[in-house]
Amino acid sequence: MQSATQQNTFADDVLRGLSSNPKFLSSKYFYDDEGSRLFQEIMRLPEYYLTQAELEIFSEQRDEIFQAFAESGAAFDLIELGAGDGTKTSVLVESFLRRQIDFSYIPIDISAEALNFLTGKFNRQFPNLSIQPEQGDYFRTLESFKTKSDKQKIILFLGSNIGNFSLAQAQDFFKSLRAVMNETDLLFIGFDLQKDPHTILPAYDDAQGITAEFNLNLLTRINRELGADFNRQEFSHYASYHPIDGAARSFLISRKAQTVRVEAANKTFEFAAWEPIFMEISQKYTLKMIGDLAQASGFRVAKYFFDSRNFYTNSLWKPE
Ligand SMILES: C[S@@+](CC[C@H](N)C(=O)[O-])C[C@H]1O[C@@H](n2cnc3c(N)ncnc32)[C@H](O)[C@@H]1O
Repeated sequence: MQSATQQNTFADDVLRGLSSNPKFLSSKYFYDDEGSRLFQEIMRLPEYYLTQAELEIFSEQRDEIFQAFAESGAAFDLIELGAGDGTKTSVLVESFLRRQIDFSYIPIDISAEALNFLTGKFNRQFPNLSIQPEQGDYFRTLESFKTKSDKQKIILFLGSNIGNFSLAQAQDFFKSLRAVMNETDLLFIGFDLQKDPHTILPAYDDAQGITAEFNLNLLTRINRELGADFNRQEFSHYASYHPIDGAARSFLISRKAQTVRVEAANKTFEFAAWEPIFMEISQKYTLKMIGDLAQASGFRVAKYFFDSRNFYTNSLWKPE
């Protein structure tokens, strides 16, 4: 359950999105209990190659990653933005604990459900780990980074989360991060790379319809938490991949002309037949785009780690 202020933010965001042209909803609200469960199912789908690729990098190159992180041997705070269920991070955590490195793990997530699940799992799996979960929007928690501790910060932004930002938003985000980082801090980011469009598209339009369910679940959440009357049967999921700008996009399409009341926003919204609601962007990158983005936001790329198919990269950035 959300606090009153968070609920206002959710209502405000839904009001703003559904009043826009074209309509949109923010993908940061996907992860209630059911959304977190569905995303775990998505991560296990054969079409969703991203999770396997990042897991392969962590499993096969944990020593190299450790060396790149712990160059100085000093204690550090491992801060993860949008940590989700932490499945892949647990591979790194396990490896660091085995080496008896002095570090605290600080997962940040807007979803209380995801964070509770992760904290419970990590407490059982790693009883000696110092874990300090923080629930909230990572845009809002950035400022607290400056005063968090004197230790080196290693910031993780995994799972191609950055893909959910447009290129302009990604640059703004990294600039804000740079502003709260010290010279010796590190940023470790998971980027999904541009590849065969026939590989990319099914990751957002799987045969079992789990991704469709995941998108439609946000309508169910709005119904429950904001007193709305979306009829899910009257919306269908549509995904596209545009190879020129390298962006996969997900939409919910209104199957007929209809109105939807959202009590918490005190507003009724009109939908034309076949009108789309833009749900999520999943930007795919080239190495040139990554290098340019690092430079434009005050970093340099120190190292790339790739999976065996070159589908995905984890990129280590240092403040410039
Ligand atoms: C695609 S999942 C990825 C989870 C994990 N990083 C992984 O690689 O499996 C995105 C996670 O980021 C969280 N998230 C999305 N937007 C956020 C925001 N603005 N602030 C904090 N967390 C956010 C979601 O709740 C979700 O748990």
